[in-house]
Amino acid sequence: MNHQESLFDKLGGAGGVHRLVEVFYSKVQLHPQLSPLFPEDITPVMEKQYQFLSQFFGGPALYSQEHGHPMMRARHMHIPITPELADDWLGCMKEALEETGVEEPLRSFVLSRLAGPAHHFVNMPRE
Ligand code: HEM
Repeated sequence: MNHQESLFDKLGGAGGVHRLVEVFYSKVQLHPQLSPLFPEDITPVMEKQYQFLSQFFGGPALYSQEHGHPMMRARHMHIPITPELADDWLGCMKEALEETGVEEPLRSFVLSRLAGPAHHFVNMPRE
């Protein structure tokens, strides 16, 4: 594998990130603590997440082109995020990476890149 390839490429480009986002939100919607936080129509969130993750993984800057500076922590301030919820979010992502066939060591590397932001978005104390 070419070490100069971006994570976006390693995950299979647009198709791979799309599949990851789809499987991830199907998990989120089945999750008892996460699902109530999301709007009933999850489609716009999925589209924005696809745009964001594409850019976060080194692919095209789709999110910024359409929505401006990501400011992702600020965009999560209206959601009460405890440390447990950050772990739940990461747990759904781990399962989605497994189910979309992302192999080790890539899977753990991608998860570790997302763990920083997830814990950074915590804005409520542990329950
Ligand atoms: C830590 C646990 C997290 C929870 C509980 C959470 C929850 C949510 C919820 C409920 C929304 C929908 C907000 C709305 O439509 O009003 C949202 C939007 C979003 N989340 Fe998260 N999120 C978490 C972590 C993350 C992480 C780690 C990322 C990416 C690294 C992320 C990326 C996004 C994006 C891109 C959106 C769409 C933002 C927009 O409206 O432009 N989230 N999140």
